[in-house]
Amino acid sequence: MSDLKEYLAERCQIVDAALDRFIPSAGTRPATLHKAMRHSVFAGGKRLRPILCLAAAEACGGAVENAISNACATECLHTYSLIHDDLPCMDDDDMRRGVPTCHKVYGEAMALLAGDALQALAFELVAKTPGTPNHTAAAMVLELARTAGSLHLVGGQVADLEGEGKKLPLEDLRFVHEGKTAALLTTSVKLGAMSANASTAQMQALHDFGMATGLAFQIIDDILDVTQTSEKLGKSAGKDVASEKSTYPALMGLDASRAEAHRLTEAANRALDLFGEKGTRLRQLADYLLNRDY
Ligand code: IPE
Ligand code: IPE
Ligand code: MG
Ligand code: MG
Ligand code: MG
Repeated sequence: MSDLKEYLAERCQIVDAALDRFIPSAGTRPATLHKAMRHSVFAGGKRLRPILCLAAAEACGGAVENAISNACATECLHTYSLIHDDLPCMDDDDMRRGVPTCHKVYGEAMALLAGDALQALAFELVAKTPGTPNHTAAAMVLELARTAGSLHLVGGQVADLEGEGKKLPLEDLRFVHEGKTAALLTTSVKLGAMSANASTAQMQALHDFGMATGLAFQIIDDILDVTQTSEKLGKSAGKDVASEKSTYPALMGLDASRAEAHRLTEAANRALDLFGEKGTRLRQLADYLLNRDY
């Protein structure tokens, strides 16, 4: 097995090449819209969700070519959520992935619409993924729809905004983080597994893995917002304190937040026991997410 750094670089290339095929070219009419979509998607980004999707497919014995459209769908949905998250009416951020945010370059209306179009493209890509005996394409669309909607991603974003200026109880903060972040990480691994005809037991294990590693992921995001520079993050640091967001560090301090992220990552890795050796990449990815510095 190649080392993780090489693996991540190789996976990024596969994902980027596929995204380039799936997103209309910058010259396609209306060109401003496609330029705006491409600005945010190709600004960089760690591509963690599509990489997790492909790794889950392989853990279930599937092939990259059957999972790649689902993988790109998770990145399109994620990028839409970032474009909207950065809008002045939400977190009001000027920098993302090391470049000016979509609305800074293309204006608010175009950024809103670029996000809308990326969300629609995500569903198109999942609908195009070949179904398997255990999982129809419709079931995959349902999986993404539930996660994208009011009970998860959008609901989490609402609870995040409504939590500004308040000290949310831990249980409510967990609801925010599971909704806005852990749900899509979970769906990313599940969509990979579905493309590989995963069994019910494999789906349950990946659900547990995704929720634990996804919550750890957002706790680390909160920690990095406090401990890193904007240059390192490629987005403005210190925003959560400035906006009086409820975060893990704000609620329990940095050390307890780190300990919680560790505990969750261990739980995530234990959930993979039934995969044996085939779960190695997913375990490595969970450890990488925990130890990342941007
Ligand atoms: C940032 O996600 C937003 C959160 C859900 C915490 P990432 O840290 O995965 O951002 P990119 O995709 O690498 O830019
Ligand atoms: C973003 O959470 C979650 C979604 C975009 C769904 P944050 O607001 O913490 O993400 P950053 O810190 O701006 O990347
Ligand atoms: Mg936000
Ligand atoms: Mg934000
Ligand atoms: Mg953040």
